[in-house]
Amino acid sequence: MLCLTDVRKSFGKTVAVDGLSLEVRRGEVMGLLGPNGAGKTTTIGMAVGLLHPDSGSVTLGSTDNGGAGKVGTPADPAMRTMVGVAPQEVALYDEMSARENLVLFSRLHGLTGAEARARTTELLTEVGLSDRAHHKVHGFSGGMKRRLNLACALVAHPKLVLLDEPTAGVDPQSRHAIFDIVAKLKADGVTVLFSTHYMEEASRLCDRVAIVDHGRLLALGTVEELIEAHGGPSIVAIRREGEEAETRIETSTPLDEVSSAMGESGASIAELRIEKPDLEAVFLHLTGKEHRD
Ligand SMILES: Nc1ncnc2c1ncn2[C@@H]1O[C@H](COP(=O)(O)OP(=O)(O)O)[C@@H](O)[C@H]1O
Ligand SMILES: [Mg+2]
Repeated sequence: MLCLTDVRKSFGKTVAVDGLSLEVRRGEVMGLLGPNGAGKTTTIGMAVGLLHPDSGSVTLGSTDNGGAGKVGTPADPAMRTMVGVAPQEVALYDEMSARENLVLFSRLHGLTGAEARARTTELLTEVGLSDRAHHKVHGFSGGMKRRLNLACALVAHPKLVLLDEPTAGVDPQSRHAIFDIVAKLKADGVTVLFSTHYMEEASRLCDRVAIVDHGRLLALGTVEELIEAHGGPSIVAIRREGEEAETRIETSTPLDEVSSAMGESGASIAELRIEKPDLEAVFLHLTGKEHRD
């Protein structure tokens, strides 16, 4: 549905995207995971045609059976109508109500007045803002603004949805609401690419995760594949009766360690725990531990 081939983009001397190739398959949810400044927003900007790559190519659509049946560049109006985007910087009119914002976005997408009103009602329910429909956006919490921003991306029933940090700065309730919306999009066969630096949402939601840094693709795969390839060893933590501190054993075969510990002195074990590497371990392994602001 989205194919980036050796895409590069610089701003002055800053290389934001540095030869990135990435293919998002029809119907999949892909997480674009990377630290601040990794090039996620620039990549999404190029995917929707807001930014033009210095070199490389971007194509949208798919020709396979049941797909959109067309391919084109983001500049192609037929492709643009297929894509919905929720930008990182929430793009809403503060002095307008939730409903007015959505009706406006719907009209901008070419819906008639009646269609726009109907779609707005539907989306307000979907993102849980029906009871705030007539409230001005400027009084909204971060989470409510994010949900409305997401709803705006969905007005024209896009086949490909790009969400740039859809859960940045939101409370856990809104984050779950946003997860649920993405899960529903997936169930409806919509292709989703979302950027994030939250590991948990990437782990839970994505069919595949692309880890990027310094504008380059560092790794791509399912969460299990990434952990297998880059997660490093597990830790078996054992505390024996009468001991204060636990012993921590680094191992790639934790079950073997557990069974040998049980065999030796199973009766004296007070606590036993296996800590498996997670996506965060993969992320830190690939992108380093120093701070990015
Ligand atoms: N319009 C711009 N002008 C100058 N530098 C930019 C601009 N947009 C992004 N950058 C720089 O490009 C790099 C990648 O930024 P961005 O794509 O926003 O990363 P991310 O979304 O992963 O945080 C950063 O170093 C950022 O400062
Ligand atoms: Mg960004």
